[in-house]
Amino acid sequence: MDQKLQELWGEVMEEKKQCKGCGGALPFLIGFVAAVIAGWVLFPNLLYSKKVQPVRFSHKVHQEQGMECASCHTFRDDGSYAGLPNNEKCMECHADVVGSDPAEKIYVEQYAQKGKEVPWLVYQYQPDNVYFSHKAHESFECKECHLEVGKMDTPPVYYENRLSGYSKQTMKMWQCERCHAENGVSNACHVCHK
Ligand code: HEC
Ligand code: HEC
Ligand code: HEC
Ligand code: HEC
Ligand code: HEC
Repeated sequence: MDQKLQELWGEVMEEKKQCKGCGGALPFLIGFVAAVIAGWVLFPNLLYSKKVQPVRFSHKVHQEQGMECASCHTFRDDGSYAGLPNNEKCMECHADVVGSDPAEKIYVEQYAQKGKEVPWLVYQYQPDNVYFSHKAHESFECKECHLEVGKMDTPPVYYENRLSGYSKQTMKMWQCERCHAENGVSNACHVCHK
């Protein structure tokens, strides 16, 4: 057995000599490619679970109806942001099915008429320790911070980080801080972390 192994080893070393450098570079290359695949493809797939919105709501279709953004995304009288519209708003038009789109039927029958609010996924929700107010950022366009859903026909896929439970698409600390720095706004920790 030992003899056989030694012969084999000899053959390998011989081949290695004939092809200088291959022995070193090839395994490295294979390892490198494997690491890249693991890092760029497998790991993000493992880390994030994909979710779709409970109802395929089209911003584009509603904009074509002539609806303003602010008719669904309003400020309350106290300046706080009402955020997402509720059934009361949608039922101004969807108390009954009015069109032929299957998504509308789902919305009307499974939510509106049952008095159940749609559990929309918000791509931009921040961790609890981050304080944010829309009022202070009123002068900016939505797309500075949000995906441009306002123009979309189908809501984008939502990526949830399996470890933290937060959305992958949410704005990162450095992005908030970059704009604050550009506008001379304080970046002291307590401004955003209360
Ligand atoms: C001013 C009236 C109006 C309001 C308010 C309104 N919709 Fe619509 N909605 C429409 C019309 C018109 C259509 C197009 C119907 C068709 O031709 O299929 C539509 C289509 C839809 C559809 C089908 C897929 C799509 O988006 O095109 C869904 C789902 C829907 N609406 C959900 C909602 C929800 C949820 C709300 C509240 C956030 C809402 N709508 C508010 C008028 C309205
Ligand atoms: C008919 C009501 C309606 C109108 C009008 C409307 N939206 Fe929305 N908006 C929604 C609903 C419902 C959602 C939640 C589902 C989704 O994200 O698609 C939403 C979500 C959003 C979000 C949150 C995205 C996130 O981070 O989760 C943004 C930003 C937004 N809309 C921008 C706009 C803009 C810009 C306009 C005007 C061009 C607009 N909306 C008009 C109903 C409306
Ligand atoms: C400067 C950045 C910024 C701008 C500009 C901005 N948003 Fe947001 N928005 C956020 C952040 C951050 C959150 C998450 C807040 C949280 O987690 O409490 C959010 C949350 C939301 C939500 C979720 C509902 C909620 O709880 O408030 C909606 C809807 C929304 N934004 C719509 C809009 C629309 C429409 C515009 C444009 C008129 C807009 N935003 C402009 C950063 C921004
Ligand atoms: C596009 C530029 C921009 C981005 C992005 C931005 N901010 Fe701001 N922020 C401002 C400006 C400008 C002010 C000052 C507003 C004023 O003084 O009226 C401000 C003020 C604030 C304030 C203090 C005002 C208050 O309500 O107490 C907080 C808190 C804040 N931002 C949090 C955040 C967080 C958290 C994010 C990221 C999720 C963020 N901002 C992203 C421009 C931005
Ligand atoms: C302009 C707003 C802003 C300021 C100022 C700010 N943060 Fe943050 N911070 C955020 C936001 C938004 C997040 C959540 C998104 C993220 O993780 O990037 C966050 C997340 C964090 C986290 C969690 C990181 C993680 O990956 O879980 C820590 C820790 C933190 N901040 C510490 C600080 C400290 C320390 C300071 C002061 C030196 C500071 N922050 C100043 C907005 C801010």
